[in-house]
Amino acid sequence: MDFNQLSTDLLNEIVKFYNEPDFETLKNTLYYILATAISIKVLKVAHKIYSARKNLAFLPTAPTSILPWKFAKFSHRIGNDPVVIFNRFYDICKHSWAKTDLSRGINNIWFAPGVNIVYLFSAESSEALLRSNANINKAFAYDMLHPWLGTGLLTSAKGKWKPRRRMITPAFHFNILQDFLEVMNTQTTFMSEKILGDVREGKCDAVNMYNHITLCALDIICETAMGKSISAQMTEEDSEYINAIYMANKVIMRRIRYPYLINDFIFNMVDSDAKAYWKGIALMKKFTYDVILARLSERENKSKSEETSAGDKKRRAFLDLLLDEYENGNITIDGIREEVDTFMFEGHDTTAAAINFAFYHIAKDPRIKENLQREVDEVFRGDLTRDVTTEDLGKLDYVDAFIREILRLYPSVPMFLRNLSEDLKVNEDYMIPKGQSVAIQTYYVHRDPKHWGADAEECKPERFMDKNIKRHAYAWIPFAAGARNCVGQRFAMMEMKMQVASVIRRLNFEIADNQPENMELYGDMILRPWENTLLKITERTEFNF
Ligand code: HEM
Repeated sequence: MDFNQLSTDLLNEIVKFYNEPDFETLKNTLYYILATAISIKVLKVAHKIYSARKNLAFLPTAPTSILPWKFAKFSHRIGNDPVVIFNRFYDICKHSWAKTDLSRGINNIWFAPGVNIVYLFSAESSEALLRSNANINKAFAYDMLHPWLGTGLLTSAKGKWKPRRRMITPAFHFNILQDFLEVMNTQTTFMSEKILGDVREGKCDAVNMYNHITLCALDIICETAMGKSISAQMTEEDSEYINAIYMANKVIMRRIRYPYLINDFIFNMVDSDAKAYWKGIALMKKFTYDVILARLSERENKSKSEETSAGDKKRRAFLDLLLDEYENGNITIDGIREEVDTFMFEGHDTTAAAINFAFYHIAKDPRIKENLQREVDEVFRGDLTRDVTTEDLGKLDYVDAFIREILRLYPSVPMFLRNLSEDLKVNEDYMIPKGQSVAIQTYYVHRDPKHWGADAEECKPERFMDKNIKRHAYAWIPFAAGARNCVGQRFAMMEMKMQVASVIRRLNFEIADNQPENMELYGDMILRPWENTLLKITERTEFNF
């Protein structure tokens, strides 16, 4: 074939078309281009399905056939109800845990031809992924966070993530956390006193603790991340910023659960919250930018030497650490915005969800409540209002064990996903191919009877009291593990322990009347009770000192 001749002919055709436009030819050409594009796409999808099925043929899988009616049958069996889906998956896990071969703790689910996720739900099957320094990129579901968080620490891929992680890790140094403990104490005392006021007015027979805890957690994270108070506990639902956070969380989860909403165009067309969502995202970003710029100009007006010599050294927020890096040319203002908003997202709902479960168990199990109160009374010796210090936290072994047990039973992040950059060998012999999305299901890993016994479902803080018990390193992974673990875990443990210790000094909890016997759960990005768990709260009158 003479390519020179061919390109000359094509050029002549184009020149001819410009001189004497022939719309019939144009229409045919467009049809031809469209048909070619569709064929290429169909071939690509078919190739993807074929190679995925071939590469993963050795895995236990559902549904087992590519035929559309098999998918329909499978979806029908699974249903749409998040609680049912959650429980059905537990059945799959139990079935798999009963096995002793290499397929234990692993499954592959096809959501549609070409769309599948490999699930890992045992300490052993999760180990290789958690140990890997290569497979640390996030899967497609995290793209839904990009409009708000951009590509901050949680969502970024390896190249951008590594230097950022190195930059941010010192923000969780012990000395800095001690400063943050002051904020946690102030906000938690505010919460306790507010509830105590309601108790004295006889308004606490059926309280949804989650509301109180969420607002308190928001106040804590705002002040520690941005150095700015939003007084969520005072303003409650009136704040535009808080409403925007709620809306973003709700919509992000919905878009992940219903993948047809992933496309912005379709989402904007069909979702009735779309307008409010985009408005809220813009508002939150502006709020953070304004705080950053105000803090920056505050710093410019006041040199560091003035600050220390005047003896008015202000508590430093995460933002200050990032602004130091900005002044050294290591991060842009937009980068700071991404990271501050990432803390806002990761740093409040996660802790609030876990503490809500903690109060539920304190209310449900008098034995646990008494053990906790006995230990707290021993440490505080009748002082009901003083701040909880780091020394106190070091003495509260039962509180620590209780929080660990709560995170085992109710890991706030019940599942996290990676997209494989390299082939991954799981359970010694199964090779999961590069490009595959893989999910670690912490919730189920934490209930595997192999590591947690036949009573894995029960809340027993004593499991964590004996420090000599040797367990599989990946049997307890509420904060993930390995390179991409939770950077805020020490912050989170500190907040949860201090809140439980501080609140139960003064308040008693019971399950409110007419509450269902069992709490149904569902998990998207955060694990939550399906319905509000209402508690009866009273003032403590009996103490152990
Ligand atoms: C009970 C509380 C918490 C739990 C259970 C938790 C759990 C997790 C988990 C499982 C991950 C890995 C997620 C993934 O790979 O997709 C993660 C990442 C992360 N968490 Fe937490 N978290 C908690 C609290 C916090 C707090 C308080 C902060 C900040 C103050 C925080 C900041 C982050 C960040 C920035 C990441 C991304 C880290 C990276 O990729 O380098 N988390 N967390």
